[in-house]
Amino acid sequence: MLEESEMLTPPIAVYERVIEASIERVWENVLDWEHLPWLHSGSFADIELQHADENGWRAQVQLGPRGQSTPATIELRIDWPASRYTTSTLEGVGAGGSIVTTLEAVSEHATSINVAFLVPDISEADAAGVGAIYLDLYRQLWDEDEQMMQRRQRVLDARAQAARPIELPDSGLRLGRESVIRAAAPILLTFAGRSYRIVEVEGELLVHDTVCPHLGGPLGGPLGGPLGEPLGDAPMDGPTVTCPWHGYRFDIRTRAGLEPDSACALKLAVAPGIEIDAVTEEVRLVAP
Ligand code: FES
Ligand SMILES: [Fe+2]
Repeated sequence: MLEESEMLTPPIAVYERVIEASIERVWENVLDWEHLPWLHSGSFADIELQHADENGWRAQVQLGPRGQSTPATIELRIDWPASRYTTSTLEGVGAGGSIVTTLEAVSEHATSINVAFLVPDISEADAAGVGAIYLDLYRQLWDEDEQMMQRRQRVLDARAQAARPIELPDSGLRLGRESVIRAAAPILLTFAGRSYRIVEVEGELLVHDTVCPHLGGPLGGPLGGPLGEPLGDAPMDGPTVTCPWHGYRFDIRTRAGLEPDSACALKLAVAPGIEIDAVTEEVRLVAP
């Protein structure tokens, strides 16, 4: 998979696998530098972007989990004709090393990857141990990425359905007694192919859509849903929900994004409302 010049430094290890996602989703993930400290929070504590364009990015990262991280500058460059990208460590731990990943579409929803780990000036004795660490780390990173890509694909496939107005009977959808709903919240609720989370915020029952308007991340928490296994929690702080994919925050009362940059233009999709019958204490989901 590597060019002849690169073979001068033989890889200390090679990781090969078929990712069950289209090559389009994989490239999207490669260019998505922002997800590293969120989706891969066990491996990256932070990231500060220095440069990004359509051919890659360069960033200062904190390697390792929060509280035990070390800084490094990494650069990712894509060689589109070769369907390959190289991640090089420019400064910090592992400086001089690079990781060359070659992608090949094997079907509409599967992509083979070949990841070669190049570490200059490493003794033969150390190479096996360091290679094994890389293989373990990359297995985990690609596991996390694969789930993200698969959910994103399902969100894209379901887009037409999500664009339809929410249909509920005029009398609303009966959910049960208020005390039962409050005790059970948060509740993930699915109907007509869409999923919502009912949460109790400062004494009020609220409903929010569980598809992050950024790239489709899971805002349903660890409860699962029709769009696939969510990755990590979508924690609430008062009315603010945080997406576990890139950390964007949304106010579920106003549906507005709370980031001070372009993400603030993003808004959660409309969700049904909640009505509680004052006499029977029955909770009903009503059209927005
Ligand atoms: S998908 Fe990116 S922040 Fe939610
Ligand atoms: Fe990733």
